[in-house]
Amino acid sequence: MSNSPKISRRSALKYAGAAAFGAAATYAGMKLFPQRESSDGASPSGTREPQHVRNSKNKTDMKVLLVNGSPHKTGCTFTALSEVASALEKNGVKTEILWLGSEPVSGCLGCGICRSTGLCVLNDSVNAVAEKVSEFDGFVFGSPVHYAAASGFITPFLDRLFYSAGKRFACKPGAAVVSCRRAGSTAALEQLNKYFTICNMPVAPSQYWNMVHGNSPDEVRKDLEGMQTMRTLGQNMAWLLKCIAAGKAAGVDLPAYEARVATNFIR
Ligand SMILES: Cc1cc2nc3c(=O)[nH]c(=O)nc-3n(C[C@H](O)[C@H](O)[C@H](O)COP(=O)(O)O)c2cc1C
Repeated sequence: MSNSPKISRRSALKYAGAAAFGAAATYAGMKLFPQRESSDGASPSGTREPQHVRNSKNKTDMKVLLVNGSPHKTGCTFTALSEVASALEKNGVKTEILWLGSEPVSGCLGCGICRSTGLCVLNDSVNAVAEKVSEFDGFVFGSPVHYAAASGFITPFLDRLFYSAGKRFACKPGAAVVSCRRAGSTAALEQLNKYFTICNMPVAPSQYWNMVHGNSPDEVRKDLEGMQTMRTLGQNMAWLLKCIAAGKAAGVDLPAYEARVATNFIR
């Protein structure tokens, strides 16, 4: 059976032109902002790290991108991501939080053009991030739970990002965090973790599955276990990044992968 695209290249390019024309969310226009670090060492939850963590002289040049896939710029997902970012910063890793915005994000057109270009024909935030992957050592993708799944913003974003630029993520640690009012968190988390494990990315762990519960940032901050889970995730990701860097420095090469074998179930 052929792998012919579901839409023609001509119509994909036409669509892309229209999308580019109307694209509000180019990288330059996106709200990329460095994570603020509180001056007294207190995290957004108000808790304080032990002295040895705050004073550790373990600054690195490493940087993690945290993507907020909620329509709410500073909502519950942001609150969770901020806690992860704060722990990363305290462990010497720089962070940036990127909000995907509240404009609709197109799904993958399945045109296959990215296989030859490495970029999506829809020239929006997906390409902007794809072109910056090399600048980051790790990635955290955050989403609110919408109907027991990841949001309709981050799902198409990640589909297109990983379909067009998945190879660039190999060997870079990833983690997903989700925020929900009550249920569906593990399903959404499992969905997001799938992007990492199909792209040779080590998955950073925590002490519990990476979820917070709440309908508002205040409620999330009251989820003390959830917030601690976020801090532990940040610590673990920093540790993983340092282990990988130490391995490289000691001559442990990154894996050289075989040429991809792709079989389907129709023979
Ligand atoms: C369309 C929609 C669907 C939702 N579905 C769920 C759900 O399945 N389970 C749940 O616990 N909360 C659900 N919620 C609540 C949000 O997941 C929860 O309020 C989340 O913490 C909001 O995060 P945010 O402020 O970053 O957007 C839903 C909210 C919306 C808007």
